Amino acid sequence: MKGKRILLGITGSIAAYKSAFLVRLLIKAGAEVKVVMSESAKDFVTPLTLSVLSKNPVMTTSFNPDNGEWYNHVEAGLWADAFIIAPASANTIGKMAQGIADNQLLACYLSARCPVFIAPAMDLDMLQHPAVKANIQTLGSFKRHYIITPAHGELASGLTGEGRMEEPEKIVDILEKYFYENLPLRGIKALVTAGPTYENIDPVRFIGNRSSGKMGFAIAEELSKMGADVKLISGPTHLSLNDRGVERTDVNTADEMLTACMHDFEKMDIIVMSAAVADFRPGEESTEKIKKKNNPLNVALVPTTDILKSMGEKKRKNQLLVGFALETNNELANAKEKLVNKNLDLIVLNSLNDVGAGFDVSTNKVTFIEKSGREHSFGVKLKSEVARDLVNLIMNSYKK
Ligand code: CTP
Repeated sequence: MKGKRILLGITGSIAAYKSAFLVRLLIKAGAEVKVVMSESAKDFVTPLTLSVLSKNPVMTTSFNPDNGEWYNHVEAGLWADAFIIAPASANTIGKMAQGIADNQLLACYLSARCPVFIAPAMDLDMLQHPAVKANIQTLGSFKRHYIITPAHGELASGLTGEGRMEEPEKIVDILEKYFYENLPLRGIKALVTAGPTYENIDPVRFIGNRSSGKMGFAIAEELSKMGADVKLISGPTHLSLNDRGVERTDVNTADEMLTACMHDFEKMDIIVMSAAVADFRPGEESTEKIKKKNNPLNVALVPTTDILKSMGEKKRKNQLLVGFALETNNELANAKEKLVNKNLDLIVLNSLNDVGAGFDVSTNKVTFIEKSGREHSFGVKLKSEVARDLVNLIMNSYKK
């Protein structure tokens, strides 16, 4: 629910008191909430209560009677990621089914393009009336309209039966499930690498680099947030993941990273190689600590396998491969060459010459270059924001 914009419509029913709890739960779950009330809803719960809980002004009319200012129902309708009408009275349900817009709530409803969740609340005989049943059925048949079936129990009339508005906790569960199931990368498997690799010289010393892993961790978390099943393969870093949905494997050397990457490569749909993999490792690793002896030490280095290049050679149709290029000169030309040589779909260029870009800082300044040659350049941004930009581009380019 984090960051989701929820428009809550409240109509005239005793269950309106539960809407206050619903607002609290939505806010607690990280959503942004705006409330629109019908005139009769105000008899059951005050706009002030809902305004305080939602931290937003509450709309009850189409304009402010004090200054004549118009409350834009179209804007409110388009603002929302979901519109919940809870409680939904028989009267409002009937008008919604017929496209009547004689109050602000109904005008918002007709303007909304988002999914609509309707939680009816009324006495059992009203709910069983063929006219109401038909209206509910009509609403349920509309695209992206979901009826939250009323619960069975004691009703305000004293009768017992079906008609109680579903509990706020349950409504939040339904919404969370909806958002989860409709995440854009649901069912997609992604592999992300992050951090440096350490190539051992002896049991004490290694050749490494200054990569912190921040960029790769941010990308892994962003992909996961969009619903992908993410596997993160990380070199040595002190970072920890906030998202427990990401599966993490730690490795030390380029060889270990290669093995870990290739293990799952076939199954992966999206691969983002942001790790700063060592290009060379000592040809021989001494099993004992090398003594100083005051002589120059020559360590013969041998190339490691270019993991990204091997992936590019094996890449199957519908696999999207993203590489990184950290350059100090001829940046664009070098990055474009890597894009072609390694058979990539997209390359992220960052230049060590740019202030706020590169290793061990929380920001980055990047240019994305697509296989088609299209370039997207950005200013200095937080790595989390760069990750969002990258994942947005990946989502636009990825074709199942
Ligand atoms: N890479 C890799 N395996 C390696 C070296 C690099 O998979 N052994 C990947 C990195 O994860 C990155 C991309 O290749 O996505 C580019 O790495 P970079 O070091 O910039 O380029 P190289 O191709 O190694 O070329 P050079 O170091 O000569 O610039």
